[in-house]
Amino acid sequence: MPMNQSLTKKYSGKVRDIYDAGDDRVLMVASDRMSAFDVVMNEPVPDKGRVLTAMSAFWFEHLRDIAPSHLISTRSADFPASARSRDYEGRSMLCRVADMLPIECIVRGYLAGSAWKEYSATGSTHGLQLPAGLLESCQLPEPVFTPSTKAALGHDENISFDRAVALIGGPTVERARDIAIGLYMRAAEWAIERGIIIADTKFEFGFIDGELAVCDEVLTPDSSRFWPADDWHPGTTPPSFDKQPLRDYLEGLGWDKQPPPPSLPPEIIDATRRRYIDGYERITGRSFADWPGVTK
Ligand SMILES: Nc1ncnc2c1ncn2[C@@H]1O[C@H](COP(=O)(O)OP(=O)(O)O)[C@@H](O)[C@H]1O
Ligand SMILES: [Mg+2]
Repeated sequence: MPMNQSLTKKYSGKVRDIYDAGDDRVLMVASDRMSAFDVVMNEPVPDKGRVLTAMSAFWFEHLRDIAPSHLISTRSADFPASARSRDYEGRSMLCRVADMLPIECIVRGYLAGSAWKEYSATGSTHGLQLPAGLLESCQLPEPVFTPSTKAALGHDENISFDRAVALIGGPTVERARDIAIGLYMRAAEWAIERGIIIADTKFEFGFIDGELAVCDEVLTPDSSRFWPADDWHPGTTPPSFDKQPLRDYLEGLGWDKQPPPPSLPPEIIDATRRRYIDGYERITGRSFADWPGVTK
């Protein structure tokens, strides 16, 4: 990842780094780091950070009538002088700093992951009663808003709507829910026409100038479950659009899913890179080669 003395790093996440850009702005830089089973792999996936940035930027623009976002620009000419280099180009978003809600706003259109686990054990998810007899990966009668806490350490915890109300107040939860469902429905409809199911996704919102804005990354394979529509069969776990070659490889090794991760052969990295690019091109109808900063 680029290192630059004159930019102050505020935060380093699993796959992104956030720099102070002055004037209540941050530069969010997506690296090529890739995690699987919550462990970050040793090898980067070339261009992954650029693909995810391009995808987020597409969605922010495409969904802007539903709610404002934190994005100011992805053009490096707009970045602080010390970030106007090729290292940052295409993988960075200059954003307004928001006063972030302490919850993750998850919307689920299909029954998968932790929601499926909880449902198969209890018949409900996030405290929400669902119809009986649903199969894993089935489409829900309508998308549901299922918030979780943002755990500083360890795994986020699924919470009920009422618990979210207790944390941030009724009007804010209702606004967050309405925006989240609106974004999800529009995006899922768009994606399915292009052969991709968005099973679920996580949004993060924050207040900017007193208004709730869409922050973080949006509707990327890192924040969502994307499934190839052709491989969706209720009752089974569909392959993830982006990470399936990697997961299959790791499962085949019998690795215990604890750090350190095993090293990855180039063909697995390359297959993963191609999946990310394919997903971007299918969803946006744009050629990734036209996005700035692409590896030639
Ligand atoms: N506009 C914003 N203003 C302030 N914080 C933000 C903004 N957008 C996203 N964030 C926060 O930045 C952090 C990004 O961290 P992330 O790269 O997701 O790392 P990880 O989730 O692995 O800790 C999250 O805590 C997110 O809530
Ligand atoms: Mg995060």
